[in-house]
Amino acid sequence: MKNLTQCLKVVEDDKTLTSPGAKIPYYPLAIKKGRGAIIEDLDGNHYIDMLASAGAINTGHCHPRVVDAIKKQAEELILYTHVYMYHEPVVKLAKELISIAPGDYRKRVFFGLCGSDANDGAIKMARVATGRPKIVSFIRSYHGSTYGAISLSAVSLPMSRKIGPLLPEIFHVPYPDPYRPPLPGMTPEQTSDYCIEQIQIAFDNYMPADEVGAFIIEPIQGDSGLIVPPAKFMKDLRELCDRHGILLISEEVQQGFGRTGKWFGIENFGVIPDAIIMGKAIASGLPLSGVVARAELIEPLEAPVHLFTTGGNPVCCAAALATIEALREENILSHAAELGEHAQNRFREMQKKFEFIGDVRGIGLSIGVDLVTSRETKERHRAAAAKICYRAWEKGILLSFFSGSVLRIQPPLVISMEDMDKALDIIEESMDEFAKGQIPDSILETVKGW
Ligand SMILES: Cc1ncc(COP(=O)(O)O)c(C=O)c1O
Repeated sequence: MKNLTQCLKVVEDDKTLTSPGAKIPYYPLAIKKGRGAIIEDLDGNHYIDMLASAGAINTGHCHPRVVDAIKKQAEELILYTHVYMYHEPVVKLAKELISIAPGDYRKRVFFGLCGSDANDGAIKMARVATGRPKIVSFIRSYHGSTYGAISLSAVSLPMSRKIGPLLPEIFHVPYPDPYRPPLPGMTPEQTSDYCIEQIQIAFDNYMPADEVGAFIIEPIQGDSGLIVPPAKFMKDLRELCDRHGILLISEEVQQGFGRTGKWFGIENFGVIPDAIIMGKAIASGLPLSGVVARAELIEPLEAPVHLFTTGGNPVCCAAALATIEALREENILSHAAELGEHAQNRFREMQKKFEFIGDVRGIGLSIGVDLVTSRETKERHRAAAAKICYRAWEKGILLSFFSGSVLRIQPPLVISMEDMDKALDIIEESMDEFAKGQIPDSILETVKGW
């Protein structure tokens, strides 16, 4: 049994002092330090991190280049608002983001502080640039916690319960899920065609295509359990958008910055979007977001339609520049692709042994392991997910799940093969103990999960 004295004190205080509306508890882990893929709690226990702070720490905790850049910039200037004045880091970063974002066209950037506000900015940009009010996103997508981002999201009832009305003119259509297709037995191709057909039905009946400004889509639907759409769907959606003069915006808050082994998730599908929404890992943990888009979409925006006093502040920009430098110069993207393939292969081996592993999916180091009560019904196995995460945590792995049943494998991209294998061994052991009924029901009181 590990010592958790200091952790438990902080957890008890937190429970009475902070908002329950901002907490999705897994286990009583109060973090003190992080280096690379390893974190240390207040009692000195160490863990291998499989969550990377919800996909926000792709370069690893406290990457030396990032820490150094933050220190240097903080000694020069922490903030002078970019709204009124100019500074070099924001311009340097804009150039870098434009160079890494897909699309051989003239681009511009606007900045914010988190993934949610970037989604709001994308809604505003699409409405202003196209003159069309309607925005379409996808059922079971998560886009964040501001009113605009909640309006785009469609994955959780408590997110929007009692806080309405939400933003008008936002529509949701089905996202193609190859594992749980709309009708049993549908192939990924048929699933893709079905979802395109649903959009066409909406266009024909209640959502005139010429009133739609943009589709905002996650290239892999994250919080619904890492659903990887068929490539055909992305291509067909791009074609549909082109036919009707609608923007295609890739929401890369979770899948961007190397998570899938490419700079942006959409690059795995051979499709060029009109804009990219960025957040989370962009500045290795400092609050920064951005939208990179065709210049002609950003140019019609008139101040102060979308600006933030501390948005694009010099320290966050310096951290983002160091993040890009690290990802580029340390070959972290190819490392993520290689380790991702290795991890998926190992989970597929585990799937042969454990009947409750229904599906293993993902790209790069964005992997979901979907646990089911039966492979036939594909019913989500929440108790299995909660118990396996808890036992893995007891054994030194920070593991979480989302969508009720999907183990979330999104470690810092710099994790070593050795640590990855150690984590996978422990997850396998925890699955084995779950299969043998050795994890008590009592932990279900503690682990709520997403
Ligand atoms: C796909 C996606 N979009 C947007 C957000 C919101 O980002 P933030 O919490 O930084 O506002 C998240 C956060 O989990 C996300 O996963």
